[in-house]
Amino acid sequence: MHPQNTFYTIMDENSELVAYCSFGQDGQVTGADYRDQALDIGMGIRPDLTGRGKGAEYAKAVLEFADSFFKPKAFRVTIAAFNKRAIRVWQKLGFQH
Ligand SMILES: CC(C)(COP(=O)(O)OP(=O)(O)OC[C@H]1O[C@@H](n2cnc3c(N)ncnc32)[C@H](O)[C@@H]1OP(=O)(O)O)[C@@H](O)C(=O)NCCC(=O)NCCS
Repeated sequence: MHPQNTFYTIMDENSELVAYCSFGQDGQVTGADYRDQALDIGMGIRPDLTGRGKGAEYAKAVLEFADSFFKPKAFRVTIAAFNKRAIRVWQKLGFQH
């Protein structure tokens, strides 16, 4: 992917694309409130791999990468209110509304 964008691919051991993650502005959505200082995270698992109970595992790996790479003081994710699955994943990792 283009290096000017803060998007990263996540591959499995066979170099198959299984998910992506994005950071900073590339983890934000139009219209949300981003006044507080935090590193924004976006993430998506390949559609055919979702719903298998692995969401928190992926999100944890993304957090560990972001922590070592960007060393932010805080993390933030923006999730649509209807997206209960995503809300559950990030709450399991300690994120608060
Ligand atoms: C959001 C996403 C990362 C979650 O990963 P996933 O592997 O599909 O999710 P899981 O199968 O691990 O499920 C996560 C939790 O949500 C729960 N869940 C699933 N569907 C649910 C629903 N409709 N309502 C409430 N909880 C639900 C699961 O039971 C699980 O909770 P548990 O671990 O306590 O049992 C993945 O679905 C995805 O990439 N979606 C598209 C991109 C996206 O929505 N991004 C959001 C911003 S990060």
